[in-house]
Amino acid sequence: MKSLDTAALDHADKLAHKLADFDLPEGCIYLNGNSLGPPTRHVKEEVQGILSQQWGKDLVSSWNNHGWIDLPVTVGEKIAHLVGAGPGQVICCDSVSINLFKILSSCLSLSGNRPVILSELNNFPTDLYVAQGIERLIGSELCQLRLVDAEDIVSSITDDVGVLLLSHVNFRDGGMLDMKLITDQAHNRGALVVWDLAHSAGVLPILLDECGVDFAVGCGYKYLNGGPGAPSFLYVNQKLQGQFTQPLQGWMGHASPFDFDSSYRAASGVSQFLCGTPPILSLGALDAALDIFADVNIDDLAKKAGLLRDTFLALLESDKSLVTLKLESPRGSIDRGAQLSFSHPKAYEICRALHEDGVIADFRSPNLIRFGFSPLFLSFAAISDAVGKLSNIMRDEIFDRPEFNVRQKVT
Ligand SMILES: Cc1ncc(COP(=O)(O)O)c(C=O)c1O
Repeated sequence: MKSLDTAALDHADKLAHKLADFDLPEGCIYLNGNSLGPPTRHVKEEVQGILSQQWGKDLVSSWNNHGWIDLPVTVGEKIAHLVGAGPGQVICCDSVSINLFKILSSCLSLSGNRPVILSELNNFPTDLYVAQGIERLIGSELCQLRLVDAEDIVSSITDDVGVLLLSHVNFRDGGMLDMKLITDQAHNRGALVVWDLAHSAGVLPILLDECGVDFAVGCGYKYLNGGPGAPSFLYVNQKLQGQFTQPLQGWMGHASPFDFDSSYRAASGVSQFLCGTPPILSLGALDAALDIFADVNIDDLAKKAGLLRDTFLALLESDKSLVTLKLESPRGSIDRGAQLSFSHPKAYEICRALHEDGVIADFRSPNLIRFGFSPLFLSFAAISDAVGKLSNIMRDEIFDRPEFNVRQKVT
């Protein structure tokens, strides 16, 4: 293996002090923060406090006294500064899938006689499924999903396209789209744009306001470390607010929920995207998880993530035992996310063998191993150890052991 001075990289790491904020199991190298971020110590303490004091002792008064009712907004504002959004445009609620339903339906109501939702063939399935569900619900005259290759997106924005639905960073290969360029092109041709930030929020610089983005969604449980099933966030550009109503009209999106009015009247602004009662334990965990970002610069996060990724790749590519792993992510100066994917016919088995040896990565069907490089809790030494363990597994064909061939429900 090529000798890379990972000790020097760790020494120069401006974010190294953040590693101690996490409490990962001894010996675990967690290359899966792009799927489920781990909790900080602070999250554990805060959630314990919500359980024992706020819920346990203060009970229902906590909706007012501990600000529970405002959490979707306060957490949304904490996320806003990570995605380049000014105040009053980000709210935290529901899942990405549900928020996409609300947003895409709103877009179609705004885009008049342009029924096409244009997306990428390789976009994350839930984004496509939600669009297909709307098409089935309201009919193909009013909604039609059209899928093209990533490189054909701009040239496919024809007069019938009302909205572009795109992932900023592709979940499979980590390729990144040019948010500013595509948003400008879409606007020039009369279409709205919805960006899915699941694989970029919290790890890459995002400038929603500056790019003039119309709508965006993102995950709370990946790089934001908000916990399993943490609520998603959504962004609605100020310029569009007040021009439409979204269809999931729940009481929390009413202008005055505690009037218990029998007719719906949408709240003004982004709050109309709320639907039902906010999940306080999950929101509280995400709220606490976001505190770690208060004193870090997103450019430093992106820089370290890129360096972790490139170090991993350089070590892997200099190791003869690893030649059968084929890089499926873009390389070089092309914009990329904080992950790498490699294909191999035994990708699933390799992932299981890595897991057994303390290196957590994930498998993406049919043949990809995906490694995520979260900059807040990974050291360069850990990256080198992970490649060393992968090398042993490949050299000795440990992945061929029968126990690694048993498919689990969640891969
Ligand atoms: C790009 C992308 N969008 C959406 C989702 C799913 O979002 P949710 O489960 O919150 O609906 C994921 C999950 O991994 C994802 O990677």
